[in-house]
Amino acid sequence: AIERTLSIIKPDATKRNLTGKINAKFEEAGLRIVAQKRIHLSAAQAGQFYAEHSERPFYGELCEFMSSEPVVVQVLEGEGAIAKNREVMGATNPANAAEGTIRKEFALSVGENSVHGSDSPDSAKREIGFFFSGLELVG
Ligand code: CMP
Repeated sequence: AIERTLSIIKPDATKRNLTGKINAKFEEAGLRIVAQKRIHLSAAQAGQFYAEHSERPFYGELCEFMSSEPVVVQVLEGEGAIAKNREVMGATNPANAAEGTIRKEFALSVGENSVHGSDSPDSAKREIGFFFSGLELVG
C-alpha cells in the first residue's frame, strides 16, 4: 500500500550540509518528498516529540542534541514507505548499519545518527500530525 512516513534530518547532518545528499537517497529509493520544512526545535518541543523515550537514560541528551541546530522535517510517500525508509536509513547504531545506507555513510554515533524515521503506521500518523497540517502535504 502507498504509505506516508515522517522523516527528520537531524542536527549532525544539517550542520554538515548533508540535506541534499540524504534527500537524494530517499528519492533514489522511490520515496517522494511530499512535505518538507527546516525548523529549529526547542528542547521542550524535542521532548514532546520523543515523549515515549522519557524514561530512557539518553532522553536528556537526545532532547539537547535535537534542539542544538536546525532540523529538516519531511513527509515521505511511497509503496511501503515506512519500511522502505527504515531500510534506506539503516540500523540506529551506524556501527551496525548496512553498506549504502544513510547511517552507514553519514552517521557519527548512535545519538548523532543523521536521520529519524517513524517505526509503525501509528507512529507515522502521530509524528506527521506533530509537524504538519493536511494543507502542507502535497502529493
Ligand atoms: P531515533 O530513531 O530518532 O529515535 C530515538 C533516538 O534515540 C534514536 O534515533 C537514537 O538517535 C537515540 N538513541 C538511541 N539510543 C541512544 C543512546 N544509547 N544514546 C544516545 N542516543 C540514543
